[in-house]
Amino acid sequence: MDMNNSFPISVEDFRHFAKKRLPNFLFDYIDGGSNDERTMAANIADFEDYCLKQQVMSDVGSVNTSTELCGQTASMPLALAPVGMAGMMARRGEVQAAKAAKAAGVPFTCSTVGVCSVEEIKQASTSIPWFQLYMLRDRDVVLQILERAKLAGCNTLIFTVDLAVAGMRHRDYRNGMLAEGLKAKWSMFSQLATRPRWLMDVGCLGGPHAIGNLSDVVDNPNSMAAFKAFIDSQFDPSVTWKDITWLRSVWDGKLIIKGVLEVDDARQAVDAGADGVVVSNHGGRQLDGVASSISKLPAVVDALDKQIDVFMDGGVRSGIDVVKAVALGAKGVLIGRPWVWAMAARQEAGITALLTRFQQEIEVAMALMGVNRIAELNADLIDH
Ligand code: FNR
Repeated sequence: MDMNNSFPISVEDFRHFAKKRLPNFLFDYIDGGSNDERTMAANIADFEDYCLKQQVMSDVGSVNTSTELCGQTASMPLALAPVGMAGMMARRGEVQAAKAAKAAGVPFTCSTVGVCSVEEIKQASTSIPWFQLYMLRDRDVVLQILERAKLAGCNTLIFTVDLAVAGMRHRDYRNGMLAEGLKAKWSMFSQLATRPRWLMDVGCLGGPHAIGNLSDVVDNPNSMAAFKAFIDSQFDPSVTWKDITWLRSVWDGKLIIKGVLEVDDARQAVDAGADGVVVSNHGGRQLDGVASSISKLPAVVDALDKQIDVFMDGGVRSGIDVVKAVALGAKGVLIGRPWVWAMAARQEAGITALLTRFQQEIEVAMALMGVNRIAELNADLIDH
């Protein structure tokens, strides 16, 4: 199909345009998963195990996709997932994404390792983002970061627990995205006459805001290699549930634990005082070989029995997938790669179009299922 002159419609269209626009190593950084990418593929494929039920001749004259996520009204049960270094895919990328999310009425999540700081995002987009945290060895630094997030108005903290160590991402290894290989690549890239201009204000190429949310502690790493070395030295693999209890004691907003797949872990999150969990395998970027998120969702929903909110992410590629996840008991879903592809393809307007498409698809699916409200979606509307 020749899509050169058309505006992207589906998530796959956006992916196609992102691939054309980005240098290979950046496209692969977003697009790839760990090892043989089996879990990443299962995240998408397993949505097909669940079929929606069509219900006809119901009055669907007042379909409404709005809902409540972490105490905020949202136009649909969807939020933008934290994506590290997303700001490399478009100029001040996280700001563009936060603006599009605000206009669409859904939350945007700042990653600990975002290019734009939480302050810049708040100021430039006038939205109040959610904030994602990785535990760092130096707890004083964690406290400083939380303080900054609070001052920026963030009320929801997403604490990611499935990155005790980084997954084996073969594409990144092949592309030399690690340590010295990457340093050489950046230095070569920055000398190209035709390099994308937007990349020049990313700190890795000498710009001012290397990793915005860590600027207090990492002094503008002037290469991705320095950044990677910093991550390796700072990310704390010794984290346990006790640390969540500590986090709970220092963070009084909503606390959502992201990266839980098993029922026992989800129960521990409840015991540690979390307000929610995200059933997630990090988009298939961590332990390859684990089951898909959607296949794990029903058991977690069942076990937690509405004590706290259950979200899910991984492989959500359409409004229909959102409806499936919500009918299976998710309060909402997060999307990762889709928004980054949309931004790489068509900047802020791309994300706006993507979010409009998701909302339309949710609305149409609800109408054809004979449902007017998000709260009416339930497991009886799914064939498994
Ligand atoms: C991520 N993800 C992620 N998660 C997190 O908690 N902090 C982070 O910094 C990142 N960084 C990141 C970078 C890239 C390039 C990707 C693709 C993903 C995981 C992300 O939040 C989410 O769990 C998955 O992306 C969901 O899967 P889909 O929607 O990409 O299939």
